[in-house]
Amino acid sequence: MRSPRLIEIDQQGPAGRHADLLRDLTASPALVSPKYFYDALGSSLFAAITRLPEYYPTRTEAAIFARHVDEIATQLPTGLTLIDIGAGDCEKAARLLAPFAVGSYVAVDISVDFLGDSLTRLQLQHPDLPMLGVGTDFSQRLRLPLEIGDGQRLLFYPGSSIGNFTPAQALDFLHQLRQATQGGGLLIGVDLLKPVAVLEAAYDDPLGVTAAFNRNLLRHLNQLIGSDFVLADWQHVAFFDRAQSRIEMHLEARRSLKVLWPGGERAFATGERIHTENSYKWRAEDFAALLSAAGFSRIRRWTDERAWFAVFLAQA
Ligand SMILES: C[S@@+](CC[C@H](N)C(=O)[O-])C[C@H]1O[C@@H](n2cnc3c(N)ncnc32)[C@H](O)[C@@H]1O
Repeated sequence: MRSPRLIEIDQQGPAGRHADLLRDLTASPALVSPKYFYDALGSSLFAAITRLPEYYPTRTEAAIFARHVDEIATQLPTGLTLIDIGAGDCEKAARLLAPFAVGSYVAVDISVDFLGDSLTRLQLQHPDLPMLGVGTDFSQRLRLPLEIGDGQRLLFYPGSSIGNFTPAQALDFLHQLRQATQGGGLLIGVDLLKPVAVLEAAYDDPLGVTAAFNRNLLRHLNQLIGSDFVLADWQHVAFFDRAQSRIEMHLEARRSLKVLWPGGERAFATGERIHTENSYKWRAEDFAALLSAAGFSRIRRWTDERAWFAVFLAQA
């Protein structure tokens, strides 16, 4: 059996990360990039979220693939290199490897330890398929290593992770994805507008898994910058902002408090928030237009019966 190789590309370095985090934590209002959700525990908590009855995106996207995978496969060359951007547990790609007759698989993720474990498990199921893990943070620039080779590429960006970007940032990231395809294709999952109650339940489940995922970010920060966040002081808040067409997640101070870290501190009043995530919800036509604006063509899309989620295939 092959062993998956893991390459790490640290574009920013610990000092740069530290400086960015302190800048954002001391901003008004305070914010933290959602990429910091994903230490190994955060990645496991996200995998748990995808199994919640309220979290419709994963199930709905999987149903679209189950129904249309053969039709999508007819649009693709065989033996392609599938590059999974933000691969997480690699489960979505795992279901596409055989139907797409994938020649090699590349999984890219910031959560390096979790990625290594996911890839090792996947390799057991596909002992002869060449696999490569790339541990990197693509939030500033998507950089892929030469080791990927020059096979025909299909970039895979499922789960509506594109929704974490503002529309302007999403356009910029789609440009980067198009470049990274090297003339190949992009297969991307996008969450669509739907009743607010459905949206809000998906980001605030009664079991509290999403709340734990959100609060785990403070535990991760304590490790990264040596801060003394007390998790019990912070409450999970999630709501849909119609004007911006996005779910916002925040952590709200339950009391007036001060957070300390080596060389600094920040006071928070009762009810003051740290903004931790946006998840934009798109109209399918608007997202198709965004793909065109980023230079993609031959855009095809598939949705579920309720039109809650869309999968787009586009050529660079
Ligand atoms: C919402 S999860 C989606 C996971 C999986 N693709 C799915 O659809 O279920 C986002 C994934 O992207 C990764 N990620 C988030 N921000 C990232 C960044 N800036 N650079 C690299 N990976 C990132 C996370 O570690 C996580 O695995």
